[in-house]
Amino acid sequence: MSEKELRVAVIGAGAIAGNHFEAIQATAGLRACAVADIDQDRADELAGRYGINSYQDYRELIERERPDVVAIALPHYLHKEAAIFAAGFGCHLMLEKPMALSVSECDEIIRAAVAANIRMLIGHTQHYMADNLHAKRILRSGDLGRLVMIHDVRHMNYYRPSRPDWFLEKAKSGGGVLANLGTHSIDKIQWLTGSAVRKVNASISHYGNRGDVEGGGMVYLELANGVPATVVQSGYIGAARNETEIICTKGMLKLITGDSLWISRGGPYERLEVPETATPFELQYADLLEAIRTGSESGCPASYGREVIAVLEAVYRSAASGTVQLVL
Ligand SMILES: NC(=O)c1ccc[n+]([C@@H]2O[C@H](COP(=O)([O-])OP(=O)(O)OC[C@H]3O[C@@H](n4cnc5c(N)ncnc54)[C@H](O)[C@@H]3O)[C@@H](O)[C@H]2O)c1
Repeated sequence: MSEKELRVAVIGAGAIAGNHFEAIQATAGLRACAVADIDQDRADELAGRYGINSYQDYRELIERERPDVVAIALPHYLHKEAAIFAAGFGCHLMLEKPMALSVSECDEIIRAAVAANIRMLIGHTQHYMADNLHAKRILRSGDLGRLVMIHDVRHMNYYRPSRPDWFLEKAKSGGGVLANLGTHSIDKIQWLTGSAVRKVNASISHYGNRGDVEGGGMVYLELANGVPATVVQSGYIGAARNETEIICTKGMLKLITGDSLWISRGGPYERLEVPETATPFELQYADLLEAIRTGSESGCPASYGREVIAVLEAVYRSAASGTVQLVL
């Protein structure tokens, strides 16, 4: 007997919503049913494109449509209230990263999810990128010897005029480049190594021309397995770069995120052929669907999303105090 098709609603019709809809459409067993955005035009545009209902108020959407799954692609300060509301209706959650503004907000979401017995996947896309998956396989194989350290660098113009204002207001975003993009790096490092960050030493700067969030940061991380890592991010004007070097005793890997994977065994880097996979968003939905059907945890559960926020909190504590901070 074929399993019931699950109806998925997407809340927030902004920049990333299209990736969600494309992935839902490509996933057997899922069907998009509705979209909500306070900007009715945005919601209507996506509703027209995917032949679904549109709402301005996400609460009304959930009450009327009773979706099986809700994807939350809202500004970060709305993640908690939307997640708890949807959980109250028994909806499983695809909750975009970063999970929430603070560890205490994550705990509130987790309590609501446990009470409702729902499955959740936090959208840490790094777990699902083909190059990253291949890099992780190589690290696990032991082919490059022992993992020694990781160096992650990202530069981009964070203050581009088209960036929505909420990203640059700390009360709404939880922080700047480190909260939005640094959480991808923290996730990438923890997930690649299978080890959690335990200690943090961070320095951040606030030289952006808009808002009150940090525009750059240099972070030294120590993992529970003893491996050190650095995350260096600049949101100021400059040459865009998004690279992670993974240094082992018998060679190195370089991830150019979203582009390619490179290897060196002593000579210059050589590009690796990476097996093709479905898109990261498709893999995320397949993972959540499997968790719903089997009652197991997804590959990126709320407890993990909370861990990333705990590291981010330690980063800000360290930068404010000028001291090394343990991840609590
Ligand atoms: N996984 C990834 O690679 C990735 C990439 C980009 C964004 N994201 C995450 O996705 C989320 C959304 O980011 P985005 O870039 O799409 O932002 P965005 O600003 O483009 O979209 C947010 C949308 O939410 C709507 N909105 C605001 N308040 C609302 C409310 N009360 N009710 C309904 N709609 C409301 C806005 O009108 C806007 O259309 C964030 O958590 C972000 O960090 C993840």
